Amino acid sequence: MSQVRIAIIGAGAVSDYHHVPGIRIDPRAELVAICDPNEKLLQQRKSEWNCDFVTKDYEEIANNPDVDAVIIATPNFTHHDISLACVKAGKHVMCEKPLGVSYQEAENMHQEALKAGVRHMTAFTYRFAPSMKYLKHLLESGELGQPRHFRSQRFLDWPETSWGWRQSKKLAGAGDLYDMTIHRIDFAQDLLGPIQSLCGAVAQFAKRDKTADGKVCDPSEVDDWSAIIGQFSCGAVGVWEGSTLMKGHHNNGFGFEWAEINGSEASAVYKLTEPNHILMGKHGESLEKIPVPEEFLKVPGSPRDVT
Ligand SMILES: NC(=O)c1ccc[n+]([C@@H]2O[C@H](COP(=O)([O-])OP(=O)(O)OC[C@H]3O[C@@H](n4cnc5c(N)ncnc54)[C@H](O)[C@@H]3O)[C@@H](O)[C@H]2O)c1
Repeated sequence: MSQVRIAIIGAGAVSDYHHVPGIRIDPRAELVAICDPNEKLLQQRKSEWNCDFVTKDYEEIANNPDVDAVIIATPNFTHHDISLACVKAGKHVMCEKPLGVSYQEAENMHQEALKAGVRHMTAFTYRFAPSMKYLKHLLESGELGQPRHFRSQRFLDWPETSWGWRQSKKLAGAGDLYDMTIHRIDFAQDLLGPIQSLCGAVAQFAKRDKTADGKVCDPSEVDDWSAIIGQFSCGAVGVWEGSTLMKGHHNNGFGFEWAEINGSEASAVYKLTEPNHILMGKHGESLEKIPVPEEFLKVPGSPRDVT
């Protein structure tokens, strides 16, 4: 079996805590190149990630015949141009969310990837949690009855200091909405199908005009809170709410997450902190904790199978 030779473009936080560990535990994949314009970080990752080929220029990755696929984990405003350079050079692409900073960017990326005939995907990871897959099964098998209502809440207790590039509208597109609530929009549609209509609101709670070490910086231009009310094509209604500035919801950095589906026969709940359990209850009962059956803990044949 030949390995997929992967390059990381953007050697920051998410590459370090998700993507590189993911590549390392899969014998079908190999990290062959790293790209980041930050020279100091590049040299640090070269040694930490034990990878010889490093560059500051993503075009060098796109045009490198020894790279099969790229993971793009850069600030949001760069995703579009980097993706296009890579797919046009025939690389398979996994680009972080949000794909672009506008619908037009995301649609263009999709069309160019289709034209190039390469594999392309984004990193909406929550839908793969065992409890989420089990919720989907309960919906599809009719155990919850007709889905009537979906509710998602994601609260984090982060500092009120600068969010770096994430608080610039031009660089990030939006705040909580593109960073956090976007995942909840994705898994809601994975569970219940397309959203037909919606309205929403955003709000800013803090100026974030100081860095963590107390230096004055440009204030935030993006939302700290986002909320949506919508209706799915299947008829169910949905409510979403997210914020990164909710005091007391720190929970070792994981925050609070709850997502529930209320159907005509039963209700079921996903909690981020308990991915191998759900809560479930029927009329007249109280929600009860239920282990996710073993078949939903595994992806058949995957080297990542839970043993
Ligand atoms: N799927 C998830 O759960 C998840 C979690 C965290 C972050 N993300 C996404 O991942 C992306 C990166 O987030 P992060 O927290 O790692 O940010 P980060 O700021 O820690 O890292 C971004 C890195 O990209 C580098 N970079 C900037 N321009 C570049 C370019 N032109 N070419 C190559 N590298 C470049 C920066 O120097 C930096 O090292 C964002 O789009 C974010 O929304 C997704």
